Amino acid sequence: MGRVGNAPVRVGVLGCGNVGAALVELITRDADVIASRTGVRLEVGRVAVRNVAKERAVQLPEGTLTHDAEAVVSDPGIEVVVEVIGGIEPARMLILQALKAGKPVVTANKELLANVGGELFEAAAAAGLDLLYEASVAGGIPLIRPLRESLAGERIRRVMGIVNGTTNYILTRMSEEGASYTEALAEAQSLGYAERDPTADVEGFDAGAKAAILATIAFGRHVVAGDVYREGIAGVTAVDIAFASRLGYVVKLLAVAELVDDRVAVRVHPAMIPSTHPLAAVRDSFNAVFIEGEAVGELMLYGRGAGGMPTASAVLGDLIDAAHNLRAGGAGRSVALSRARVCPIDELSSQYYLSIEVLDQPGVLAAIGTVFADHGVSIRSMEQVGMGEEAQLIFITHTARERDVQTSLHELRHLDVVERVGTVLRVIGPE
Ligand code: HSE
Repeated sequence: MGRVGNAPVRVGVLGCGNVGAALVELITRDADVIASRTGVRLEVGRVAVRNVAKERAVQLPEGTLTHDAEAVVSDPGIEVVVEVIGGIEPARMLILQALKAGKPVVTANKELLANVGGELFEAAAAAGLDLLYEASVAGGIPLIRPLRESLAGERIRRVMGIVNGTTNYILTRMSEEGASYTEALAEAQSLGYAERDPTADVEGFDAGAKAAILATIAFGRHVVAGDVYREGIAGVTAVDIAFASRLGYVVKLLAVAELVDDRVAVRVHPAMIPSTHPLAAVRDSFNAVFIEGEAVGELMLYGRGAGGMPTASAVLGDLIDAAHNLRAGGAGRSVALSRARVCPIDELSSQYYLSIEVLDQPGVLAAIGTVFADHGVSIRSMEQVGMGEEAQLIFITHTARERDVQTSLHELRHLDVVERVGTVLRVIGPE
């Protein structure tokens, strides 16, 4: 980037939690380095916070902090707005106001984009302004820009990601220490990864919002959170993980987006992936996204998916881009996309791991086998784990259609010899 004028670009930051505070620290500390590397000088103009009186690590000039976010957006001295409040309102309204006032916006807000992104991108495109969101998926990992720019001409077949650090941490502890789900969740909570109410992470809502954003960029059609099929990890047991390991697999919560004919299939669920797959090596709270493109082949981007500094690093990159574009007089590159046609999970095919708690008596296997056979689900292997009241049958299927597997499971739940249908894991990889 060339030099684009000496006047600093004054930034309005909405929200000063972990990410906002880290961003303010980075801009304050590195303004000279950024100016010499990029030709853009950033300056923190105003910061909207909930509590102005709160003690903060970064010293800001008197009057920078305000509790009035609308005043930051409408301040004529503020040229670019960063939204790191999270949630849908008031973030949505503030972003629309900023765009209306001719200010590019940088946001880290996945929930907002995955639910009402269409409206925001339309407003940005109509105003010819940037609306950038690198930090909304997988925190510090440069992912949106590589997909949107470097791979702009690539025919992407599939994007598969580990995009939730909390669940990856829990599954890693279960795999490596044999911890139960409950023990691993408690550990994640004590380390501050998982919230006291862990629902958004463990039930896959957080990953689902990220999957919608990834699918939108990868396939150039607008996908919303409601389009994403979602299952969480709360039902995964130590037995499932040990069994997968014995077969040469690891269990991960995956976000998968792929093109099926001309439709987008997007889902979040726990899956077994071969231990030789690059995603299998993504441990603890790290994130990674594996991209398969027609010309480029396979790519993987790996790093910290959360945390103040990594996420602020992604926001800062966007901010420099927006500021540079503003000074250079370029139009923003936001485009309003048409809605995706969504392929329901019913129509997809996969191999499956199925764990079924049964009565340990003659004829059980035959009864279950008949149900699978009736629906064309072919069994590749079967093993009994435990005996008597603890008996579980674990099946690995050949590639089968989701609809046929679900119909079989529904019928199995009604058999007298079946106590419970337990974990269902899709198996990724060649048969
Ligand atoms: N809670 C998320 C995670 C980070 O565990 O990865 C924010 O999206």
